[in-house]
Amino acid sequence: MTNDWVLKDLLGLERLGAANIEAILDAAASFKKAPSPELLAGRTVAFLFSEASTRTRSSFEAAALRLGAECLSFSAAGSSLAKGETMLDTMLNLQAVGVTHFVVRHERSGVLEDLAPKLDACVINAGDGWHEHPTQALLDLLTLLERWGSFKGRKVVILGDIRHSRVARSNLFALRKLGAKVVFCGPTPLVPDAFAALGVQVVHNVEEALKGADAVNVLRLQLERMEQGFVPSLADYALAYQLTPARAGLMKPEALVLHPGPMNRGVEIASEVADGPRSVILEQVANGVFVRMAALALCDQGRARG
Ligand code: NCD
Repeated sequence: MTNDWVLKDLLGLERLGAANIEAILDAAASFKKAPSPELLAGRTVAFLFSEASTRTRSSFEAAALRLGAECLSFSAAGSSLAKGETMLDTMLNLQAVGVTHFVVRHERSGVLEDLAPKLDACVINAGDGWHEHPTQALLDLLTLLERWGSFKGRKVVILGDIRHSRVARSNLFALRKLGAKVVFCGPTPLVPDAFAALGVQVVHNVEEALKGADAVNVLRLQLERMEQGFVPSLADYALAYQLTPARAGLMKPEALVLHPGPMNRGVEIASEVADGPRSVILEQVANGVFVRMAALALCDQGRARG
């Protein structure tokens, strides 16, 4: 890998420059072409997940194994975290056991910012509260880039519960840095007009938002982060905002449909669209392994250089 990456942690995309974002995407693309089964031999990856995960955790684990690293089985629920040990103490102890990489998912936004500098090991954010989910956004971008070659002049709509979505935030930061135009769409309580200050166009009418789009990234309603009253009912939400075949047809003919998962079929997306010819949802999942290989490998390089 030839690049200028010097960071040992990947905590978010807001403060990552375009060159570093491109370095991850390039590394992911090269891992997809040629495996590197010894690159992380001797490294140990630990997973600290205090929220549910299917795709993120399994693909990080697959990524670590494909690079020759070991994965330490660790469950936050059965650990001393449950006995009141601080997260920093837990991580320092695991580091003493030999952990070189932490992959962390946590319900508190920004929880890793203070912890990462206190550790020699790499820290990779696998989703923190509403804040960021950098590797999800990067795998979304890799999937788009493979089809498009460049983001210049592309219009990407992010549709759904943006207020509670770390995926939307990380996507916005990265897409804008690489030159795409981003439109946020959803009902006002979930997509406040104030989001326009982030440099995004806010559109509440789904038909208007989708017209002429090159891609739509559909998000579920994050009911676990929501108090009552953000949407009248799931049925009302579906009526007004579900990505139906008719609505998907308003985009450009070659437009792509993305979803980070988990999908709630029949709520934010119709099954015909999720399983239809424009959908790249399972390609996203497959690309997740390569993006996570890139994140683990580049952070390891940063750890060695730092
Ligand atoms: C997302 C997450 O956990 O932030 N899922 C994922 O990682 N693929 C999105 C979600 O939970 O809706």
